[in-house]
Amino acid sequence: MSGGTGAKKSLIRDLAGVFADDAAFTRLAAERGDETAYGVDEFRPDRVVPQDLIFGTSTLNPGKIGEEFFMTRGHIHVNTDRPEIYFCQSGRGVLHMELPNGETRPAEMSPGTVVYVPPFWIHRSVNIGEEPLVTFFCYPADAGQDYDIIARAGGMRTLIVADGAGWREVDNPRYRPRSDAEQGRYLEAAR
Ligand SMILES: [Fe+2]
Repeated sequence: MSGGTGAKKSLIRDLAGVFADDAAFTRLAAERGDETAYGVDEFRPDRVVPQDLIFGTSTLNPGKIGEEFFMTRGHIHVNTDRPEIYFCQSGRGVLHMELPNGETRPAEMSPGTVVYVPPFWIHRSVNIGEEPLVTFFCYPADAGQDYDIIARAGGMRTLIVADGAGWREVDNPRYRPRSDAEQGRYLEAAR
């Protein structure tokens, strides 16, 4: 991407607590912790106004930790009713989405797939393939990211795990459902 205003990357060791298999993560982080798990090149406008857009490309490297694939930390938007669009450019992935009430919707992506993340959905990318998963993303400039929502619940309600050459969705035994009050706060956190 040309004309970007910034780049960020997350190393494998930055993803502590993201994966269900703690022992497998600790082993991999000891050997390859300094390697990049994923990176973002983005364009952000100088001045944040709600009508503007942030966009860029995300590159998530392939790999597995236990039965799970490399994935992004994931988030809900701080202004929770802001949506997002992902367009898969290369690789194979799942855009894993969850509402605060625990309803999940994993959407498989291959080159050319567009995924719409509606307002109020938590979202993270999972690389289910052997190549880097490259996606273009675009969202309202005032969306913001709350990266702790998933950790506070013990993870997403379901895990995306390897199943032969593919994947399947299984229950996350460490998931702690959000109270009605907490769900309500997320649904109201929109300006
Ligand atoms: Fe987002």
